[in-house]
This record gives sequence, C-alpha cells and structure tokens, in this order.
Amino acid sequence: MKLFDITGKTVLITGASRGIGKSIALGFRDAGAIVYGAGSRPESIEWMDKEGINGVVIDVRSEKDAFNAIGKIREKHGKLNCLINNAGIATNTPASGFKEEELQNMIQTNYTGVFRNCQAYYKHHKKDGGNIINVASVLGMVGSKLASVYSGTKGAVISLSKALAIEWCNSGYRVNVICPGLIDTDMTDMIKDKEYILNQVLAGIPMGRLGDPEDILGAAIYLASDASKYVTGQTLVVDGGLIAQ
Ligand SMILES: NC(=O)c1ccc[n+]([C@@H]2O[C@H](COP(=O)([O-])OP(=O)(O)OC[C@H]3O[C@@H](n4cnc5c(N)ncnc54)[C@H](OP(=O)(O)O)[C@@H]3O)[C@@H](O)[C@H]2O)c1
Repeated sequence: MKLFDITGKTVLITGASRGIGKSIALGFRDAGAIVYGAGSRPESIEWMDKEGINGVVIDVRSEKDAFNAIGKIREKHGKLNCLINNAGIATNTPASGFKEEELQNMIQTNYTGVFRNCQAYYKHHKKDGGNIINVASVLGMVGSKLASVYSGTKGAVISLSKALAIEWCNSGYRVNVICPGLIDTDMTDMIKDKEYILNQVLAGIPMGRLGDPEDILGAAIYLASDASKYVTGQTLVVDGGLIAQ
C-alpha cells in the first residue's frame, strides 16, 4: 500500500549486524529502501554486502563514527531519510553490583550514543528535516529486577525522543520510539538458557511467546513511512501484551 511505501528511502540502522536491527535491515531492503546497516566491528558487517545492504562500522560510543557515516550518506544520496538508533546492550546485574566501567559503558552505548547520533543527523540536515526512530524497551516504562541501569537508559531514550520531537518539530523532524518486549535474540539468551526461567517469563506474556525480531519490523515501517506523518514524540510498544496487564 502506498501509504506505507518506503521505496527509495535512505535509512541508517545502528546495531544492524544481528537481532532486531538485522531483521529491520533485511525487511527495509525487501521493501525497496536503500539500507545502510551498522555494526560495531568490521566482522559484524561482513555478511551485509551480499545481502544488498551497505555495511558501515559505527561504534555508537565513538564521537565520530555516526557523524562521518551520515555525512557520507548525505553526500552520496542528498539525504538520509530515516535514522534508526537500535544498537544496545543489556546485562543481568543487580544494582548493588554495578561496577563503574560497566555503568559508563551501558550509559554510553544505550543513551549517549543515541543522543549523539540524533545530534549528528540534525547537524548534517538542519532545516532539511528527517525522521528518527529510537529503539528503547518496555523496561524503560516499567520496573524489573536486575535491569536498573538498562531501564534508566531506555527511560532516558524515551524522554529524549519526546524532547527532540518538540525541539526539532518545526525543522521538519519526527522522532518516535519503539519499545520491544522480550524478543528472541542474543540479548535474551540469559532467559532462554534456563528452562525454568523461560517458562516463568512466558507465563507472564499474555501472548505466551517471546517476540520474533520480525515482529518489530511492521512498527519500524509504519514510523519510517508517510503512514505516520502526523506522529511524533510517541512510543509504540510491541510486546505481546506484556505491559498491558
Ligand atoms: N531482545 C529483546 O528482548 C529486547 C527488548 C527490548 C529492547 N531491545 C532493544 O533492541 C535493540 C536491539 O536488541 P537485540 O535484541 O537485537 O540485541 P542483540 O541481538 O544483542 O544485538 C545488539 C546489536 O547492538 C550492536 N551493538 C552493541 N554494542 C554496540 C556499540 N558499542 N556500538 C554499535 N553497535 C553496538 C551489536 O553490534 P555487534 O554485532 O557489532 O556487536 C548488535 O548489532 C537494543 O537497543 C535493545 O536494548 C531488545
């Protein structure tokens, strides 16, 4: 349907080497977008070329990687139509056990990197406008054990997105958030590894299953397309009913 058409749109997805980001990258490619997929290391992006995805190395903790990549995309295509900040890390650390290095690394990756990438996008495009989709988490909206810093960074991404949506609205930017629930990727290995934990988790999800990475794709296409052209500063939850209870 034309409303959801993303044919020919240029999109940059961080954390596209695996999991949710990979699924969005492949789905956007199938939908006709020009996809730039980022991984944190050269090895992470090796598979992309033969899949028709332009691989770039962006460590979101770096001050320059995303800025340079966005500059090159703008030079080549005239505009980056959509930036999807998806890269992220999680741990299962009790709040009392967080070491300083682990704390800083999670804040840098999950929050500072998102802010910096949004800023780099704006600096390159200014009044030309753009479209930002930030991948946060339902854990940025509700509390959970062993997720204190992760939850804090994801909550911060939700707040940041609302603030940027308002600040940049009149420059033609939309900024929205996708909050996945529990999705079957490497990130949830810590749940899947132990059957009794997995069963407990599944019992708490109304739809009774973990999400597939592909379950996030429709939300991303909606937010990247004109179907959502009057939507900004919003959070779209994709969680099988987890936090509706
Ligand atoms: N899976 C879930 O249940 C779930 C739920 C809610 C929200 N989320 C969020 O969804 C996003 C994707 O999660 P996922 O489950 O797909 O995770 P994943 O399978 O563990 O993949 C993580 C991705 O982030 C990239 N990454 C990690 N550190 C990075 C860094 N410093 N710089 C650049 N890229 C980095 C990884 O790149 P490399 O391969 O190069 O390391 C990889 O592409 C994350 O923001 C996560 O918090 C996931």
